[in-house]
Amino acid sequence: MTELFGLSQAQALVRDTARSYGQKVLSKVAGRLDREAAFPGEQVTELAELGLMGVNVPEEYGGAEAGAVAYALAMMEIAQGCASTAVTMAVNNMVAETIVRFGSEKQKARYVPEITSGRFEAASFGLSEPHAGSDAAALRTTARRDGDGWVLNGNKQWITSGDRAGVIVVWARTGEHGGKGISCFLVEGGSNGLHVGRHEEKMGLRASSTVSLSFDDVRLPQDAMMGGPGEGFSIALSALDGGRIGIAAQGVGIGIAALDAAVRYAKERHAFGQPIANYQAIRFALADAATELSAARLLTLRAAALKEAGKPFTREGSMAKVFATEKANRACDVSVQVHGGYGYLDEFPAERHYRDARVTTIYEGTSEIQRVVIARDLLKD
Ligand code: CAA
Repeated sequence: MTELFGLSQAQALVRDTARSYGQKVLSKVAGRLDREAAFPGEQVTELAELGLMGVNVPEEYGGAEAGAVAYALAMMEIAQGCASTAVTMAVNNMVAETIVRFGSEKQKARYVPEITSGRFEAASFGLSEPHAGSDAAALRTTARRDGDGWVLNGNKQWITSGDRAGVIVVWARTGEHGGKGISCFLVEGGSNGLHVGRHEEKMGLRASSTVSLSFDDVRLPQDAMMGGPGEGFSIALSALDGGRIGIAAQGVGIGIAALDAAVRYAKERHAFGQPIANYQAIRFALADAATELSAARLLTLRAAALKEAGKPFTREGSMAKVFATEKANRACDVSVQVHGGYGYLDEFPAERHYRDARVTTIYEGTSEIQRVVIARDLLKD
C-alpha cells in the first residue's frame, strides 16, 4: 500500500527492514513452523539483531528508539510474513516498553537490554487467569509479604511465551478486592516454585507458545515489585492500551497477506474460460477487503501517532484494535472463499491466515471489551 503521510527516515528504515525480513525469511518458513508448531527461536534472535525487539524503546536500553508509528509499521510487515512470530515480537515489545515506563532504574537496566538484544528469547505478560480474562481485576494470584520480600501463589493462563521468558510481568493481589488491590512484579524465568503447565494446542498461531504457569511459594525480593503497591492494575491497562495497537497492526498484516494470496489466486485460477478475477463477485469481495484493510491501517497508524505524540490514545487504540481485527477476519474469510476448495487445504496459505486471524479479536481484550472501552470514553461526563 502507498503511504499517504510521509514517513521519517527512521520510520521508513524500520518498515523496510521488517518488510525485507518478512518477505525473504518469514513468509518462506511460516507454513512449516505452523505445521510443526515449532517456536520461531532462530527468527526471534534475528529480529532482535535487526532492532525489532525494542522498536519504541530508548537506545540506552538497547532499543531502536524509532517510536510507536515505526513499531506499528514493523508489526504489519512481520505479521504478513508469519503471524506466530509477530505475536512473539508483540509481547516482547510490550513487556520491554512497560518496564521502561514503570520500572525502577535497576529493573530497566537488568531486564530491558536482555529483551531488546535477544539474550532473553522472550518476555511474558502474566495477567490472565483461568477465571479472570476480560474481568482482569478479578485475578486471584496473591503476593504476601514475607520478611523483606514477597511470596507469590496462584495460576496464570494463556501466557504467550511463558515457557521461554527470561522475565515475566506478573500481576498479583496484595490487598483488597478489585483493581486497587493489585500490584505488579517482575519474576525471572526459572525461579524456584515457578512451574510451566500445559502447552495449549491452538487453532492458529501454532508456532507461538501459549502456556499456563503456576506459582507455588515463589519468593521474590522486595524490589521485584514494579510501581507501587496497588498500582498494578492501572499499569496493566496502560500497557494494554499500547499492546492493542500492536495487535491491530498484527491484524492488518494478516489481512493483507490473506488478500494478497487471494489476488494472486484469482488471477491464476480459470473457471468458465477465464480467470476468476474477471468476475464481479470476486472483484467486489477483493475491493471491499482492500478498502477495509486500508481504513484499518489508517486507524492503527493514527492511534500510534497519538501515542508517539504523548497524547491520550486509549479510545483510538481500542477503535483500531476492534476494527482492524474484525476486518482482518473478514479479509481472511474472503481469501478462503476466493480459493474455493483449495482455501480449505493446507497446500495454500489461506487457511493458515484464517486460523491465525481468529484470535486477534479475542486476545489483548476481546472486541466486546474494546467496545466497552470506546463507549465509556464516548459517554463519560
Ligand atoms: N490506563 C491507565 N489506567 C486506567 C486505564 C488505562 N487505559 N483505564 C482505566 N484505568 C484505571 C482507572 O482509572 C481505574 O483507576 P481508579 O480506580 O483509581 O479510578 C482503574 O484503572 C480501574 O479501571 P476500571 O474501573 O475501568 O476497571 P474495570 O475492572 O471496570 O475493567 C476493563 C476495565 C476495560 C474491562 C479491563 O478489565 C480490561 O481491559 N479487560 C481486558 C483484559 C485484557 O485485555 N486482557 C488481555 C490479556 S494480555 C494478552 O492477551 C497478551 C497476549 O498474550 C497476546
